[in-house]
Amino acid sequence: MSLKYLKIMEEIKLGLATGSLIAGGKLPSVRRLSQHFSCSKNTVIKAYSELEKEHLIYSVPKSGYYVVAEFQHRTNENEVIDFLSAGPDKNVMPYLEFQHCINQAIEHYKEELFTYSDQQGSYSLRVQLVKHLQNLQVFTQAERLVVVSGSQQALHLLVSMPFPNGKNNILIEQPTYFGFIESLTLHQATAFGIELSMKGIDLDRLEYIFRNNDIKFFYIIPRFHNPLGHCYTNFEKKKIVELAEKYDVYIVEDDFLGDLDPDAKSDPLFSFNPSGRVIYIKSFSKIFLPGLRIAAVVLPSLMNSNFLRYKFSSDFNSSALSQGALEIYLKSGMFTSHLKKIKEVYHTKMQTLVEACDSLLPAHTHFSKPTSGFYLSISLPEHVTAKQIVHMLNEQHIYVDDASRFFLPEYKRDTLLRLSISQVNTNTIKRGIEQLAQCITLIDDRNDDRKNHPIPNNLFLL
Ligand SMILES: Cc1ncc(COP(=O)(O)O)c(C=O)c1O
Repeated sequence: MSLKYLKIMEEIKLGLATGSLIAGGKLPSVRRLSQHFSCSKNTVIKAYSELEKEHLIYSVPKSGYYVVAEFQHRTNENEVIDFLSAGPDKNVMPYLEFQHCINQAIEHYKEELFTYSDQQGSYSLRVQLVKHLQNLQVFTQAERLVVVSGSQQALHLLVSMPFPNGKNNILIEQPTYFGFIESLTLHQATAFGIELSMKGIDLDRLEYIFRNNDIKFFYIIPRFHNPLGHCYTNFEKKKIVELAEKYDVYIVEDDFLGDLDPDAKSDPLFSFNPSGRVIYIKSFSKIFLPGLRIAAVVLPSLMNSNFLRYKFSSDFNSSALSQGALEIYLKSGMFTSHLKKIKEVYHTKMQTLVEACDSLLPAHTHFSKPTSGFYLSISLPEHVTAKQIVHMLNEQHIYVDDASRFFLPEYKRDTLLRLSISQVNTNTIKRGIEQLAQCITLIDDRNDDRKNHPIPNNLFLL
């Protein structure tokens, strides 16, 4: 059978994503589609049965095929607007293509995929990863690279590991990814914070902390920061690496969304010192399939064997099945075309969100303006708390994230919201921001009223 069925599937998925096919709606008959695509009825049946396997459509005997309810793109008032979920957009996950890769991997590697495997990661996958990292200006060798079970594993292990500089404390941006804060807390590690705003960090302050606080490493998310959506300039990245070199501090660079960067000139910190000062971590969870639990870490040669000891005691090795299938997906070029598609999707969604915030949010509300990535953050006016906004919006089925868990206790702020574009339907972004703007104004006005008309003290005595 030709691969035309993939084209039919793609067309139907597009209809689902754009809302032209609605929940419960009947799909065209097999005969009509076969005429439309000039293909056999079997090809259409194959496309429909694959979509059924993906739970996007279902069949009713003697009636036809229908769209599954969950994929309804309602434009009515009750539609859920999800700025909360942070997994990749389900509509662009390449399930079917990847299923082929899993089958091919099993055929090729057979039982090797179902037993213990190389604790550093399969060599042939590492070779593919080295090639992929070159697109991100990370030039390294398979020997320096370790495959880990998600970047969270690498972060967790690095917190507990001794480093060649013999230092003890960890520096983090404030705010930062809460999964890393959890690792710090569980390990009872001593952590210092440096404030990161939408304008960046204070480099003089960074130097002061590096000089005085026995910093083992600085954990940094340089592109499309979680939760802020902030990106550093190349100048800042270079400067940070220079300071790290000067004060013998390591950098742990979490480039989780680097692949989405539309700016081809933007470089990772790693590229400013590839010799080992920067430990580079590449997750596949946001741009690909998080369930694979595969990420890559590039380590300084002198840390490699110790890192492997820590990894071994944590899980022996990362899933060989995931590794085998990912290797084939990378090697076949499918990953490159997937990346091209998702770069476009997330860039467009983010642009829509930034434009909506620009035109609709009250003047004294500040927000980041990322060019892509998953997150945009909103700094609320004083006395309007994230909790209040989350609560009010929830009642309207609009979900946003209170970012207070991204702070160490001494930096805690309750006026930061994180909006994720990964799962939100583009058509609903504007309405979501309109409602958000109304909530901010309402709470702000209420606060002003209280200030202008204070409740007389003696009222409490009544
Ligand atoms: C900034 C950042 N780093 C790392 C991770 C962990 O990703 P994974 O372990 O799935 O690669 C996440 C997950 O959300 C994240 O947001």
